[in-house]
Amino acid sequence: MNNAIAGFSKLSKEEKISWIAKEYFSNPEEAVSIITNYWNSDVKLQKLHDDFIENTITNFYLPLGIAPNFLINGRFKTIPMAIEESSVVAAAANAAKFWSERGGFKATVLNTEKIGQVHFIYKGDALKLQQFFTEKKFRFFVETENITKNMQRRGGGILDIVLNDKTDLLPNYFQLHATFETKDSMGANFINSCLEQFAKTLKSEIAHFEAFSEKEKNIQVVMSILSNYVPNCIVRAEVSCKLEDLADKNIPNPQDFAEKFVRAVQIAEVEPYRAVTHNKGIMNGIDAVVLATGNDFRAVEAGIHAYASKDGKYSSLSHAKIENGIFSFWLEIPLALGTVGGLTSLHPLVKLALEMLENPSAKELMQIVAVAGLAQNFAALRSLTTNGIQEGHMKMHLGNIINQLEASDAERIMILNHFQNNAVSHAAVVEYVHDLRKIKL
Ligand code: MEV
Repeated sequence: MNNAIAGFSKLSKEEKISWIAKEYFSNPEEAVSIITNYWNSDVKLQKLHDDFIENTITNFYLPLGIAPNFLINGRFKTIPMAIEESSVVAAAANAAKFWSERGGFKATVLNTEKIGQVHFIYKGDALKLQQFFTEKKFRFFVETENITKNMQRRGGGILDIVLNDKTDLLPNYFQLHATFETKDSMGANFINSCLEQFAKTLKSEIAHFEAFSEKEKNIQVVMSILSNYVPNCIVRAEVSCKLEDLADKNIPNPQDFAEKFVRAVQIAEVEPYRAVTHNKGIMNGIDAVVLATGNDFRAVEAGIHAYASKDGKYSSLSHAKIENGIFSFWLEIPLALGTVGGLTSLHPLVKLALEMLENPSAKELMQIVAVAGLAQNFAALRSLTTNGIQEGHMKMHLGNIINQLEASDAERIMILNHFQNNAVSHAAVVEYVHDLRKIKL
């Protein structure tokens, strides 16, 4: 029987573990041993990780891989990627190498505007509210000066605030819609602090604005929060080359390859079922770099998928064409990233990842992340439109199956040899190992 527990967060880490072990596990000792096996022996480092969140009991590992040979705007980069899917880093490295021999990736940040909103209910004359806002707009800037002065010194701050009447969507619903420049920080804390001050200013200024009746003064601020939808914080990544230059050992006929590739992208442009998977492949690259550099992958995911639906139907984030004998492949995505603040100076591996990327500005990181997404998409489409993905994917996954079957070193060598020339599937590996073990008996 599992019981609810009061005051759990006040318990020590050891007490929490002992409670959970007793409550949920048939073998509590084994559960404790798994949990504590993942503790770091460096007590200070472990404490740092414990303190990132509430109720930490242990660490959850993800592999950190690196994909070298990314030629981006003429400079080589090695990209750190935190991801569990076996073929992703290999595919990225492969696409990076391929395009490094064909001019590399070009990446451009188109704009960097972030957004936040104060959502409120006002039961009164909309024109009067607009008049109030026009007259008192400057107060929102004045009363956030304390919050904005450091950001302004760095070249950022509040760009603009507008009042939006949303009563056609929801009765009495209005919002302050503010735009921000947050330079090298993702800006969530800065934006939310500004918004919460806007809400206070809104209430107090309305209360003192004579033209409002008592009823009109009684506004309700529902919430003040940044938006993770940033359609004006866009980065573009692209590759292009002459059709014939696409040729390599796996692409004997570049014209056919390019035409089929473009068709695959067109399918993702028009067919949402395919677009979701197509974009998932892009996110394989994006999330892995976003995670490795300590950024908020949930925010990035939410924003990118909203952007994929911006024309009213979920569609491909990437596009491709053949024009005048040139093959081009590109994507444009919204990315709100930071290279200062948040985890960036706290998590030792994040610091290491950023140093590996030569301590990029937020704009440079946007470019790197977008390129990782495009590379991943290229690798996936190249496999899908030629040999299919299972061959490469299962070869990479073979190691996981071997581990699952707890193969000995000798067995591992034999399995790897055997599956160099045989199709890998879970069943085929199980059968092969079974036969091996039978022979040994
Ligand atoms: C698998 O993680 C990603 C792919 O499904 C992407 C795609 O289909 O384009 C291979």
